[in-house]
Amino acid sequence: MSQINVGIIGFGTVGAGAFEVLTTNREIIANRVGAEVVVTKIADLDIESDRGIPVMPPKAILTVDAMEVIHDPKIHVVVELMGGLEKAKEFILKAMENGKHVVTANKALLAEYGPEIYRAAERHGVALAFEASVGGGIPIVGALKHGLSGNRIRTCIGILNGTSNYILTKMTEEGLPFSKVVQEAVTLGYAEDPPTLDVDGTDAAHKLSIIISIAFGSPVSFKDIFREGIGAVTPDDIRFAEEFGYSIKLLAIAKDLGDRLEARVHAAMIPKDHILANVDEAFNAIYIEGDFVGPNLYYGLGAGRRPTASAVVSDIIGIARQIRSGTKGMPPPLAHVRSPAQEIVIQPIEDLVTPYYFRFSALDTPGVLSKIAGILADHKISISSVIQKGRKSGGPVPIVMLTHEARESAAQKAISLIDELDVVADKTVLIRVEGSRQ
Ligand code: HSE
Repeated sequence: MSQINVGIIGFGTVGAGAFEVLTTNREIIANRVGAEVVVTKIADLDIESDRGIPVMPPKAILTVDAMEVIHDPKIHVVVELMGGLEKAKEFILKAMENGKHVVTANKALLAEYGPEIYRAAERHGVALAFEASVGGGIPIVGALKHGLSGNRIRTCIGILNGTSNYILTKMTEEGLPFSKVVQEAVTLGYAEDPPTLDVDGTDAAHKLSIIISIAFGSPVSFKDIFREGIGAVTPDDIRFAEEFGYSIKLLAIAKDLGDRLEARVHAAMIPKDHILANVDEAFNAIYIEGDFVGPNLYYGLGAGRRPTASAVVSDIIGIARQIRSGTKGMPPPLAHVRSPAQEIVIQPIEDLVTPYYFRFSALDTPGVLSKIAGILADHKISISSVIQKGRKSGGPVPIVMLTHEARESAAQKAISLIDELDVVADKTVLIRVEGSRQ
């Protein structure tokens, strides 16, 4: 086959970017595939406005009707970049039914309806590729499916949401509260208005569910992943973390515990000398440990037209190569031909064992520390460091502690008892610690 025809549904930021990559790098892509890869149809409700790309597609290939792409017999690969859930799912399933291979960047769709869409791809013998759904331009899906495919994946720790990482970076650099930085980020156009799914951990959980599904071979719902956002992190916590030698990041963590899988998204303290502590601004990074390869790190821009388009086009090229070589059937979407013998069981957060950071807000009177320490001891929580700053006569002061490893259920129970003490003025802040310095 000398030409692979591509139809794009959704000509927004990423759609226009994908078109730009395919036209700008047309020759090098043709050389890599052994055939021309040509966008022959593009559907979008708006086919008039300028997309800010050097060369706009010819008017003749633009349509407002997605069905013209889905039912075009000449199109081999349908690229869904419209976003959203129900309509996107309908279009993808229809395209597969029509024998089209599908590329999507829609992590929310895969996180919500992954199993149904993966099954449809296998039933129709078509490819479903989604490199751009996790980590923007970082080729993490390809790394898990190919480069690391000889390994058991032991650990994955990701900074998977650029918006949260940008906000935490600014809070750290400027000492400003969360609400102020969010407001600035929205005004400057760095964050959506409001950036709820970015800052509450949902977007990172979507992406972690996709990583886990590929790494472990069985779809996991993002709803089963414990998630907390960064809204409760204060400049005080960032400052105290620094004094202890840590940075605060929104981490997406998956660990193979043998019979269970740890899977969680939350703000976490990591040692400043941990490689992920230095991933700042809107960058993403994913740290993976495989049983043979050891540690691997992937770093890059997790959003934006050009990086995301780069990932989308890598999927198109992968499929085009398979078509070109005449491969029968396509690899299954999660790159596991058989499901694992054991279903993935996610460990409840109550069973997590990790070190903690606590910030108590207590009156500065004799015996307060011993009352708090007593409750922690009753719950088998061992303190590793304490800082108490400032003395406000009569008013509360922060007492900040790092603990050794403790069980989450014990930590939560101890906090609820401590918060009932009459010398404690405000709710205690808990931040989980990853990669302890102890
Ligand atoms: N909103 C996401 C982020 C980018 O802030 O990282 C798209 O996945």
